[in-house]
Amino acid sequence: MLANKRILLIIGGGIAAYKALDLIRELRRAGAEVTPVLTRAAEEFVTPLSVSALAAAKVYRDLFDLTDEAEMGHIELSRSADLIVVAPATADLMAKMAHGLANDLASTLLLATDTPVLIAPSMNVRMWTHPATQRNLATLQQDGIRVVGPDEGEMACGEFGPGRLAEPVAIVAAVQEAFAHGPLAGRHVIVTSGPTNEPIDPVRYIANRSSGAQGTAIAEALAQLGAEVSFVTGPATAPMPKGVNVIPVETAVQMLEAVQKALPADAAVFAAAVADWRVANSSDSKIKKDGSGAFPTLSFAENPDILATVSQMKSGRPALVVGFAAETDDVLAHASAKLARKGCDWILANDVRPETGIMGGAENAVTLITKDGAEGWPRMPKQDVATRLAQAIADNLPPVPAD
Ligand code: C5P
Repeated sequence: MLANKRILLIIGGGIAAYKALDLIRELRRAGAEVTPVLTRAAEEFVTPLSVSALAAAKVYRDLFDLTDEAEMGHIELSRSADLIVVAPATADLMAKMAHGLANDLASTLLLATDTPVLIAPSMNVRMWTHPATQRNLATLQQDGIRVVGPDEGEMACGEFGPGRLAEPVAIVAAVQEAFAHGPLAGRHVIVTSGPTNEPIDPVRYIANRSSGAQGTAIAEALAQLGAEVSFVTGPATAPMPKGVNVIPVETAVQMLEAVQKALPADAAVFAAAVADWRVANSSDSKIKKDGSGAFPTLSFAENPDILATVSQMKSGRPALVVGFAAETDDVLAHASAKLARKGCDWILANDVRPETGIMGGAENAVTLITKDGAEGWPRMPKQDVATRLAQAIADNLPPVPAD
């Protein structure tokens, strides 16, 4: 249920830190990848070795560790996570977070990120009910930080009341909840992206200039609206999207197979620049010059059209199928013809003449063509195109039929 989710787990220094070990196991059992961070105080309660062993990952402990910084800077560490979980969140850590202090690795990570954060507070009952902690809690909630627990019960210090760390299963449920919000929660969307490589022989291939940047942005935008995303990508140069299921392929034939395997889906967005042809006479061994001056002749076979295949499925077709039309002339006419020919629901048409700088660039200027007409979107960063498309998909997907 948490497959492919990357969780940065900050373990604070409280007696409940030992429960973080269980939490790591539960998170991993649910499919998450856990990167642990220990505060200095936490190391008094659990050892870095046991945390690392259970997480099967490196433990980050020190803001000023040069090796860590060289491997992955602290800014990157917090940004590369899909969710930051603080468990146990001590009164001290909550106070630092509420006031924006950044004087150790944990607090710096929490300040240097816009990744969603979930805290599981745990402390002595008097610390929890103290007006300062309650003020800090209110501030954190206002800042959009999610909170699970604390539970009420007997505490390690012998007192009774609220302050016990929520049980690991409850924290995992809150983590799932954090991912399951947004208008696309519970929806599965397939996104194809990047170029395809069509082999000539084991070392040579035919490729194209697609970077995969628009596909990556679309997959991330859909995931941010709560969708479960299967991201079928050719060998792209753009970074892989966060919080999605990445399915790497090389050729168009492999891409079709991967898409068919990922079905069923509520929607599919075909942003890949699929090669129209593959080399029909590709060689299993490296083609060599034989000294005669003769050169090889390549013959081609047509690749399957993935967008058309899925659009024309007789049963199990996604409710919304979106294609792209990258054109250099008569953009709208060609794109509308493509919508009809392939049978998809929407086409995003764009003008990819080199002077537009769109192919491989950071911006895109698209026209959304549906059966009802065309809507020109202003030129904007590819991320913004993705956000707008994801929202349009959320607004137009038919509701899930009630059983
Ligand atoms: O026909 P053309 O390549 O211009 O169509 C572009 C659209 O069709 C894009 O959405 C692309 O991802 C999709 N496509 C595909 N399989 C192909 C060729 C194109 O899915 N073999």
